[in-house]
Amino acid sequence: MLVNLRDICAIAEQNNMAIPQFNTPSLEAVRAAIDAAEQTGYPVIIAHAEGHEPIVPLSVIGPIMITLAERSSALVCVHLDHCEHLSYMRRALELGFTGAMFDGSMLPYNDNISNSSRAAEMVTGFNCGLECELGSMGTRENGSGHVNDHISETIYTDPKQAVDFIKSTGLDILACSFGTVHGIYKGKPNLNFDILRKIRDEIETPLVMHGGSGVSDDDYQRAVNAGIRKVNYFTYGVKYAGEAAAKAIEHLRIEDANSEIYWQDLTIPAYRCMLKDFKHVIKVLANGASPLA
Ligand code: 13P
Repeated sequence: MLVNLRDICAIAEQNNMAIPQFNTPSLEAVRAAIDAAEQTGYPVIIAHAEGHEPIVPLSVIGPIMITLAERSSALVCVHLDHCEHLSYMRRALELGFTGAMFDGSMLPYNDNISNSSRAAEMVTGFNCGLECELGSMGTRENGSGHVNDHISETIYTDPKQAVDFIKSTGLDILACSFGTVHGIYKGKPNLNFDILRKIRDEIETPLVMHGGSGVSDDDYQRAVNAGIRKVNYFTYGVKYAGEAAAKAIEHLRIEDANSEIYWQDLTIPAYRCMLKDFKHVIKVLANGASPLA
C-alpha cells in the first residue's frame, strides 16, 4: 500500500523505531526492498535520487516503484531523494511520489530557506510529505562533492538554527548532520549523538539520518533512541550485491571454466543478497517494536 512520508514517520515515532529508506535505482533493488518489508512485516521507504538519473531515469523507474508499492501488502512510501531542482521534483509529484526531499544544504542558509519553502509550496496539493536538509554530509549521495573522512563540526546541524529552519520552511521531516557521510567510510564512523540529542531537545519534527549504510547495528539503535526516524541506505547494499554477483560468476567459472554467463547469473544473486541485507536493516531499525503487519 502506498503511504505518505508523514504517515510513515508518524508510525516510526509512535513505535520508537526508524524506517529505512532504500535507494532503488534497479528493478532488483525495488523488488528486494518491497519483498523485505512484506517478509518482515515492517514499513519501508523506496527512493530515487536525482543524482541516480544516469543509472536509471525517473521516467522509467518511477512508475515501476509506484505500481509495486500500490500492489504491496506492506506500507511503502515512494520518495524522491536529494532533489536539487524544483522542476525535477514536480515530475516525481506528477508520477505519484508520496515523499520528496529538497536538498538545499549546499546553498547559503537564506537560499536554503527560500528554495525549501518553494518546495513546501509545491508539495501542497499532492499526497506528499517534504524532507529538507540542514547541515551537510560531506559528499553527495552519488559520491560527488568534497570528501571529508572526519566530518568537521562546522557542517553539523546547528540545533538552534534547526528550529528557525523548520519554522521558516514548512518542511515535514528534517535531515540532519551529526557525523555520518555518504558513500564508503574510510575509517570507523564517528557519530556525535550529543548533537542529535540537542536537536531532538529543540524540535519534535521527525529526524533523518543520511549516510546510513556502513553504520554498525549498535550505532543504528543509539541513533533511533536519540530520535532518528528515517535512515537512508544505499552504498553498502549495492556494494554487497555487486560482490555477491561477482562471487556467483567466480563459482560458475570454477565449476566449468567455459560455462556461459547469462545476465540472470548476476541479477538473481544480487537480488537475494539485497533482500537478506535489507531484512536485517529493517529489523535492526525496528528497535524491538513488533511487526506492524
Ligand atoms: P549511504 O551512501 O551511506 O548508503 O547513504 C545513502 C544516502 O544517504 C542517500 O540519501
